[in-house]
Amino acid sequence: MVRIAIFASGGGSNAEKIIQYFEHHPTIQIALVISNNKNAGVLGIADRYKVPSQVIHRKDMYESDHLLTLLKNYKIDLLVLAGFLWLIPAYLISAYTNKIINIHPSLLPKYGGKGMYGHHVHEAVKADQSAISGMTVHLVNEKYDEGGIIFQKECKLNQDMNATEIAAEVLKLEHKYFSAVIENYITTHINRLK
Ligand code: GRF
Repeated sequence: MVRIAIFASGGGSNAEKIIQYFEHHPTIQIALVISNNKNAGVLGIADRYKVPSQVIHRKDMYESDHLLTLLKNYKIDLLVLAGFLWLIPAYLISAYTNKIINIHPSLLPKYGGKGMYGHHVHEAVKADQSAISGMTVHLVNEKYDEGGIIFQKECKLNQDMNATEIAAEVLKLEHKYFSAVIENYITTHINRLK
């Protein structure tokens, strides 16, 4: 089994899709959900699907080995960031090199980097009157949104769409493709992961 921990800070609609997709998977299991926000919707989703979950505090992530110990205890092989807002620290990237995947709601490198998350991304796309947007799945390194790109998918926008409508269009793509991209990454890089 390849065991995944999903990291999420918010509602967790992507997390829910991923949990559903792998619920009866023969070789891949969602073993843990981690959130930095005790009020995050994703924690209720984890409960509903009987996936263990943990809330972490800043010091667990940046000033102690609590998080690493937790991931070891749960025998986690791969980290999937689905709307997780904290920067992943260097020690975690060393421990999980090429084993941390993030989803970003734009066609990186456009509309990425610090501060570019959630509605900020879609408002910037709108301000540019961009004709397209889309989603990117990428590996995580020490800089926000700069790791190697695994997958991108674009959607066409029309000029009268507002930022909320753009976000909804991009989220549809995320829900449709993210889980299969994770599965494909695992099956094609299985040796590195185990
Ligand atoms: C998604 O748009 C994702 O790309 C971004 O945060 C959003 C998370 O949405 N990183 P949800 O919590 O999965 O609904």
